[in-house]
Amino acid sequence: MSNSLFRRKDISKILAEGADDTHGSGGLKRVLTVRDLTFFGIAAILGAGSFSSLGFAVFNGGPGVVILFIITAIACAFTAFCYSEFASRIPVAGSAYTYAYASFGELFAWVIGWALIMEYSIGNIYVAYSWSDYFTSFLEKVGFHIPAYLCTSYMEAKHAMEGGSTNNEILAAWNNSPTIGSLRIVLDLPAIIINILITYLVYRGVKESKNFSNAMVVLKLAVVFLIIAVGGYYVLHNGLTTNWLPENGNHIKSFMPNGFSGVMAAVASVFFAYIGFDAVSVLAEESKNPQRDLPKSMIYSLVICTVIYILLTLVLSGAVNYKNFDGVGDPLAFIFEPQNLDVGWMQFLVSIVAVVAMTSVLLVFQMGQPRIWMSMSRDGLLPPAFQKLHSKFKTPSFATIVTGLVVGVPILFTDKTFVLDFTSIATLFAFVLVCGGVLLIPRKVKETGKFNLPYVNGKYIFPAIVFGSILLISIFFKDYFPDKLNFTKENSIDNVAKSISVSNKDTVSVIQNIEQSIKGNIALTTLQDSLATKFNNTDKLNYTKKYIESENTTQSRTTKISLILFFILMLMLAVFTFIKNYSLIPLLGVASCLYLLTGMTLANWLWFGAWLGIGLVVYFLYGYKKSKLA
Ligand code: ALA
Repeated sequence: MSNSLFRRKDISKILAEGADDTHGSGGLKRVLTVRDLTFFGIAAILGAGSFSSLGFAVFNGGPGVVILFIITAIACAFTAFCYSEFASRIPVAGSAYTYAYASFGELFAWVIGWALIMEYSIGNIYVAYSWSDYFTSFLEKVGFHIPAYLCTSYMEAKHAMEGGSTNNEILAAWNNSPTIGSLRIVLDLPAIIINILITYLVYRGVKESKNFSNAMVVLKLAVVFLIIAVGGYYVLHNGLTTNWLPENGNHIKSFMPNGFSGVMAAVASVFFAYIGFDAVSVLAEESKNPQRDLPKSMIYSLVICTVIYILLTLVLSGAVNYKNFDGVGDPLAFIFEPQNLDVGWMQFLVSIVAVVAMTSVLLVFQMGQPRIWMSMSRDGLLPPAFQKLHSKFKTPSFATIVTGLVVGVPILFTDKTFVLDFTSIATLFAFVLVCGGVLLIPRKVKETGKFNLPYVNGKYIFPAIVFGSILLISIFFKDYFPDKLNFTKENSIDNVAKSISVSNKDTVSVIQNIEQSIKGNIALTTLQDSLATKFNNTDKLNYTKKYIESENTTQSRTTKISLILFFILMLMLAVFTFIKNYSLIPLLGVASCLYLLTGMTLANWLWFGAWLGIGLVVYFLYGYKKSKLA
C-alpha cells in the first residue's frame, strides 16, 4: 500500500494526454504571447488583496507592512521559478496538481489538488465579499441604499456584536435585521448574486476574448496608478508623511507601530494579494511557447504587482493613520472620503473600477477550479462527472456548478477573516509542496529556448544560511527563542496578579474570563463591565490592559512555537541538502514559504488540519481505489 500511495504519473504520459484532443483541454489554439500571459497574471493577482485586504494589513502592521510585501514577493518569486521549472518540463494545463503527480506521487498530488480548492474556490468567497463592499459603496454614491443586513455576512455581524465592535454599520446589520424565530436574517446578498452570475457565465462558456481581458487589466492598472499619483500627491502636499511614523499604544513613533509581530499578523492578507501568479500555469496549452513564456510572464506580473503594492501601502498609510483602517472593507475608496483626503471623484472612480477588477479575478479562479477538477477526474481521483463536457456549451458543466456551490453556500455562514486565513494557509502549503517537488525531480540537461532553472548547489550555502540565521538571532535577539516556551497559564496568572497586586484566586477568575473572551464566548465590553463591578475602576483599567497583553501573549505563543518548528525543519533540510546537494532556488522557496506559514495562528492550523483530514478520508474512500494508476 505505501508504494501505491506514492505511485507517480509518467511525464511522457502527461504530455501525451495534453496533446490528445479526446482529453478535453488538448487541441487548444496556441495564441497567447508573453504580454497576454503577463496580463492574465495581473488579472488574477490584482483584486481583493489590493482593493480590500490591504486595509486590514495596514491596520495590523502599520506602514511597516511594506517589508512584508517585499518578503512575500521574494517567497513568491522563488515559487514562480519552481512553477516555471515544472511548466517547462510539463507544458500542459493542470497547475501544481499535475506537477505533484509527476514528482511526489499520487497522495501528494491529491493533497495539493485538495488544497487548491481553498485557493481557487474559498479564495473567491473573499473576493465576492470584497466585490460586494465596493458594489454597495458605489450604489450608495449614486443614491441607492441597500439595508446593512442584506450586504453584511451573518458571521461578521455576529462576531462584531459579540466582540463589542464599534463599527456602527455592522452593528446596525445585526440590530435592524428581521428575524425568523430566533434566527436573524443577515446575509451578503450582492456576494451571492455575483457568484451566481459568474457561475452562469462560466457554465455558458465565456468566450475568453483576450482583447477584452487585456482591456480590463489596462483599466485596472490605470486606476491603480491614478490612486498612487493622486493619493501620493495629497500625502506629500498636505504634509501627511508623519503618518509613516505613527505613535503606537505606548506613545512611541515607529514605522512598525505594532512591532514585527504586528507586521507578521498581516501575513494572510499580504499573501492573498499575491495569489494568482500561479494561475498562469493553467494556460500552458494555449500559449505559443509555454516553456519560455510562462516563466517570464509569472515573474513580470509578480514584479509589476510588487511595485504597485509597495506604493499603494505607502499611499494608504500616509493618507490616513493606520489605526483608522479597522473594519474598512474598501480602503482605496476610503482614503478619498470627506473625513480623509476628500476627493469625491476618486471615491466614485475607485468604486467602479474595483468592481471590474474583482469581477476579473472571480472569473479567472471560477474558470480555473473546474479545469483542475477535470484533470483529477481524468486520473480517476474524482468521479467521471467532473470531466463531463456540456453537449452544447462544451464547458465542464457539472464541475462548474459544483464550483458555484462551493463558493456560494459558505457565503451564508463564513466571514472575511476566516476565508482569508484559510485560503492563504492552504495556498502557501501547496507552494511549499511545489518547491519541494522541484527538489525531488531529477536534474535535466540545459535546453536552449526553454526555461532552465539555474542549478546552484546548496550543499554549503543553505546550511550556512540556516546556521548563520540561528546564530545571528541568538546573538542579537536574545529573547527570540527562550521566550517561546516559557508561556504557561500559571506564570501568566502570576504576572497579572503581581502587576495589579490582587490575590491569585481573583486573578484566576479574571484569566478564565479573558479566555472566554478570546474564544469569543463573551464580549470584551461584558468582560470590562463585570470587572468594573468586581473591582474599582483603576483595577478595571489595569485588567483591561492585561487582557490585551494576555491576548497578545496567546497570539505570540502560537507564533513562537511555529517558529521553533520552522527552525527544526530548516535544520533537517540543511542536513539533507548537505548529503544530497539540493538545488538552492527551490530550497529557498521551501524556506521562505514555510517562514510565511509561521505567521498563521493555531486556529488556522487546526481548521486547515481538519480540511486535510477530510481530504484524506475522501481519497481513501474513493480516489485510492478508482485511480487510473491503481
Ligand atoms: N490575489 C487575488 C486578489 O487579490 C486573489 O484578489
